[in-house]
Amino acid sequence: MSPNPIPVHTWFTRLWAEIAPIGRDPGTGGYLRYGFAEPVRELERWFQRVAEADGAHTVEPDGNGNLVAWYGPPPERGDAVLLGSHFDSVPHGGGYDGPLGIVSALLAVRALRAEGREFRRPVGVVAFAEEEGSRFGVPCLGSRLLTGALDPERAAALTDRQGVSLAEAMGGRPAGARPELLGRIGAFVELHVEQGRALVDLGAPVGVASGIWPHGRWRLDFAGEANHAGTTRMADRHDPMLTYAFTVLAANKEARLRGAHATIGRVEVEPNATNAIPARVRGWLDARAADTGTLEALVEGVRAKAADRATRDGTTLEVTRESLSPLVEFDGGLVKAFRQVLAEGVPVLPTAAGHDAGILAEHVPTAMLFVRNPTGVSHSPAEAAGDDDCAEGVRRLADLLAQLAAG
Ligand code: GLV
Ligand code: MN
Ligand code: MN
Ligand code: MN
Repeated sequence: MSPNPIPVHTWFTRLWAEIAPIGRDPGTGGYLRYGFAEPVRELERWFQRVAEADGAHTVEPDGNGNLVAWYGPPPERGDAVLLGSHFDSVPHGGGYDGPLGIVSALLAVRALRAEGREFRRPVGVVAFAEEEGSRFGVPCLGSRLLTGALDPERAAALTDRQGVSLAEAMGGRPAGARPELLGRIGAFVELHVEQGRALVDLGAPVGVASGIWPHGRWRLDFAGEANHAGTTRMADRHDPMLTYAFTVLAANKEARLRGAHATIGRVEVEPNATNAIPARVRGWLDARAADTGTLEALVEGVRAKAADRATRDGTTLEVTRESLSPLVEFDGGLVKAFRQVLAEGVPVLPTAAGHDAGILAEHVPTAMLFVRNPTGVSHSPAEAAGDDDCAEGVRRLADLLAQLAAG
């Protein structure tokens, strides 16, 4: 985009102020935006209003909870350029992870239209559903359903922590794979707040993603024997909390040894009483590594150490894989196009965070653009991005869109 009076910065701050209060917890300052729940519904209605006011021809749900705004008639051929991200958050997450990509996509399209540019390829903006998996446990739920990576019957039966099924939350069974819709997309680009410190350290407002580390989620079910905390001799206990605690330390050690990442960030205890030895502990292992072999070795290392400890504690352990996202390398052609339209020397970085772009990348040429995060923190209320950097992100996304789709 040439230097011009298009007020991207003003547009950005206005739209951002409109969505900032939606789903925000005043106590922590973080967001409670879960898939198919009211704050996300409100964001989706807002999305529809903004897209239509900007001249979108249709805003159509895909039957899997994803919403696509097409600027011009929905495409027939396979060359559409789709931009977007997700609205949902982790519990008490930041406001940028996801929504920044949708707002930037809306504004990149708006900027080119305000310049009077004609699109020679169909252009759309997508809001994906339940990317974080915070409500139903499966990350990238909407994009996995759309691409056929998740079976709609299995998805329909997933339940949230209140026992509400996905089918109930959606008001019907998801549609599942939509090959005809996927077949219309020739490129997908997701802009995202950076979830680390690389761009801060490099002094760069934006960077291009090279790929995504393979990663997954494993449920660890530890079982023992509930008993009285006061009267049970230490030698007579079968305490699954001990096995669990050892496993948390083992996961940390195994990950450090391999230059990988392992986290146990969610745990449930039964009966969860101060004066009872627990009967059960359920924890979730999130593991990520630069390559598949390292990831497999990491998870196997944690499993073996935990199982050995369970034998010694007289407890049991069951490990269930809940999701796995393979290594992603983004499209070489799109990464090159990004590097051409961005300033000389733009950083190209891998990430260990999951994204809908990673799911789409198996099916269509896909790329990602990161915007600097001054705190380097994400999945926390401390996540941040400056308005100037966000406006720069919009301009760079518009530059790429112009290169790909404008006349
Ligand atoms: C999603 O943000 C993830 O990588 O967990
Ligand atoms: Mn996230
Ligand atoms: Mn995200
Ligand atoms: Mn994510």
